Amino acid sequence: MAEQTKKVALVTGANKGIGYETARQLATQGITVLIGARDEKRGKEAATKLQREGFDAQFLLLDINDEATHKTARQFIEEKFGKLDILVNNAGIALDLDQKPSEVDAQMLRKTFDTNFFGVISVTQALMPLIRKSKAGRIVNVSSGLGSLTQNSDPNWSFYAVKPLAYNSSKTALNAFTVMLAHELKDTAIKVNSADPGFTATDLNGHRGYKTVEQGASVITQLATLPADGPTGSYFDDQGVLPW
Ligand SMILES: NC(=O)c1ccc[n+]([C@@H]2O[C@H](COP(=O)([O-])OP(=O)(O)OC[C@H]3O[C@@H](n4cnc5c(N)ncnc54)[C@H](OP(=O)(O)O)[C@@H]3O)[C@@H](O)[C@H]2O)c1
Repeated sequence: MAEQTKKVALVTGANKGIGYETARQLATQGITVLIGARDEKRGKEAATKLQREGFDAQFLLLDINDEATHKTARQFIEEKFGKLDILVNNAGIALDLDQKPSEVDAQMLRKTFDTNFFGVISVTQALMPLIRKSKAGRIVNVSSGLGSLTQNSDPNWSFYAVKPLAYNSSKTALNAFTVMLAHELKDTAIKVNSADPGFTATDLNGHRGYKTVEQGASVITQLATLPADGPTGSYFDDQGVLPW
């Protein structure tokens, strides 16, 4: 199929929360958005909601933990669009927010890494050939300020007391992926960055966050639409660069 001229973005875990809002913000810029979701009903509902607002959105089945769906997603995008301009690795889980590092269940650690780290790498690798076909590929890994070892070691940091080992270290590992992949791609037009949405009210934290999804998604949208002279291999929140 001929490559479409409009930009195409895939947001994983876009049926709700920060992912849905990121898809909405990208769609307002005239970008075709693919609503990645592991549940067909929830994904289709989210895509329909955006379509009703007049946006170019469609559901794409994508379970981070199911590699078969990574392949079918690649085939679908290849056949329909011939390229992928923006990949937002947003889907993530936080299972140990109330657990101590000395007590965290090993199964929970593995499960968290399966989604927040290994799965993200698998999705990205599956879609890489299509991102390479974009004139200005952008990959945004939705990390967290909790993934920063520098911030975790700073007693003056506002979230210093928040130490769920599985979640925080999975985001540290995700940040490592950002640095390594950005280095590999440094001589291409593709930019890879980590984003920290900040403490945002979503299902992930029982809506305890104090930021709205609009505020949380804004840094992700910005990194997904960086100009050619924008940064790569970096880590941002809405205030600027974060320390690893
Ligand atoms: N909220 C915050 O304060 C905050 C702060 C920093 C970073 N983040 C990061 O922001 C991202 C979005 O989180 P959120 O706060 O918007 O949480 P959320 O409302 O719980 O949304 C998480 C999304 O990820 C999806 N997901 C989880 N596992 C998946 C899998 N195996 N395959 C496909 N989709 C999967 C969920 O799908 P289902 O509906 O099917 O479960 C949902 O769409 C996460 O990476 C999170 O770590 C959040």
